[in-house]
Amino acid sequence: MKELKKRILEDGVVLNSTILKVDRFLNHQIDPMLMHQIGEAFAKAFANEGITKVLTLESSGIAPAVLTGLALEVPVIFVRKKKPITLNTSLLTTEIYSYTKNVHNTVYLEKDIIQEQDKCLIIDDFLANGEAALGLTRLIEQSRATVSGIGIVIEKSFQEGRAKLDRAGYSVFALARISSLTDNKVHFLDE
Ligand code: G4P
Repeated sequence: MKELKKRILEDGVVLNSTILKVDRFLNHQIDPMLMHQIGEAFAKAFANEGITKVLTLESSGIAPAVLTGLALEVPVIFVRKKKPITLNTSLLTTEIYSYTKNVHNTVYLEKDIIQEQDKCLIIDDFLANGEAALGLTRLIEQSRATVSGIGIVIEKSFQEGRAKLDRAGYSVFALARISSLTDNKVHFLDE
């Protein structure tokens, strides 16, 4: 997506060879106009999949997920990282390992919020090692619903995630694919 790549080049900060800071439009300050375009792009990419629900993990996935849900006119669910007091019965859970932070986190989804007939689209801000996306697929599969696609705003193609999701057979669509962050610069896969 041209606009996104332009924005990454203008406002992204390469912190090191693996981490890109995008706090000016995605992870802290959010650019709603850009999110609107991102939502439209995901909706177009998955237009023929009959998506009935969009699923993400809090917190930075929420903005692109909501705009995608708006474009597809379907509900958006964000999986919780902390168990809310209102969510005390019938929970689905899974453990997600973060390589970046070296911790296992339990995440929570209310049972029955996704039903068997649902076709779910997973949306996330970054694809690094793929653990968050795979965790969300496990929750959808626990609900016996279908994972109909995975939409990623920024894929770091030099990390393991994309290959893992491809191997697992999921349909993955990324709006910006980064081949490397060497020499303090962002290099895109299709440059
Ligand atoms: P994975 O799910 O693909 O395996 O990724 P990983 O565990 O490595 O990522 C853990 C957290 O770090 C995620 O955010 C992810 O979005 C974020 N992250 C990974 N790579 C980058 C990067 O290059 N730049 C930035 N800015 N973030 C990155 P999180 O802990 O779930 O936080 P949040 O969603 O609440 O913001």
